[in-house]
Amino acid sequence: MNKIIDGKLFAEGLRASLAKKISYVKENHGFTPGLAVVLVGEDPASQVYVRNKGKQTTEVGMKSIEHKLDESTSQEALLKLISELNADDSVHGILVQLPLPKHIDEPTVLDSINYEKDVDGFHLMNVGMLNTGADGVVPCTPLGCIMMLKDRLGDLSGKSAVVVGRSNIVGKPMAALLLQESCTVTIAHSRTKDLPAVCREADIVVAAVGRPKMVLGDWIKPGAAVIDVGINRIEVDGKTKLVGDVDFDSAEPVAGAITPVPGGVGPMTIACLLHNTLQQACRLHKVDMPKD
Ligand code: GUN
Repeated sequence: MNKIIDGKLFAEGLRASLAKKISYVKENHGFTPGLAVVLVGEDPASQVYVRNKGKQTTEVGMKSIEHKLDESTSQEALLKLISELNADDSVHGILVQLPLPKHIDEPTVLDSINYEKDVDGFHLMNVGMLNTGADGVVPCTPLGCIMMLKDRLGDLSGKSAVVVGRSNIVGKPMAALLLQESCTVTIAHSRTKDLPAVCREADIVVAAVGRPKMVLGDWIKPGAAVIDVGINRIEVDGKTKLVGDVDFDSAEPVAGAITPVPGGVGPMTIACLLHNTLQQACRLHKVDMPKD
């Protein structure tokens, strides 16, 4: 089997399956799932993400609502918009693009979203549900990672997994998902002693630190699965290049399976956002999510 895990292909398959399920709920339950994305300010990377989200939302047959607010928007005005979206029955998912401008308190904003319309899994209620094994919404990037791991490896039970990075968006929820799959989980971070030795013990390494090419081939146990969450822009010969947190060239020959950058985890994140939106829409309408 090809050791490269093709996230682009996997995401295409997921979107095709979602499109079928969306047309099923439209025909049989009479609603169209709607996703509202709120962007505050002009961050160029965020603008690209928001554009791609809108395009892919429409392509799978959902309604896309975009609110682009000025950088100087007050927290109060943003909270008012969220409260309107919470009350709008045609909106089933609300995503506030991060990062927010410095004068706005992110936790306050994220917790003001009705947790039943939270599609990022960032609301404390969904964080709590993930960590207690309840059926909430799971953050998109770790959800994409666990889907690809289960698809490639099958049952993950008993495997040792090292997550490098302890962010609320990726590292911590990733560790919770791996634990739910009965892995033995280590969360490593900047204070971890002898990180290469810790990684070398793992059957699964998930790199989510935001440091270009940090995880090297000789940190990987032969045959291990390597999931690279990093998206780092570096300069090579005067040109900008996208690289992960894993040094692909040295890791690929050692790994049993590995995600490339670009074309690995990245494409899965938006596909999982669409999955979460459909899931929340089905819950709000009290119908089962259609099966594959
Ligand atoms: N900014 C970068 N990634 C994300 C994400 O997954 N969700 C939100 N809301 N903002 C982001």
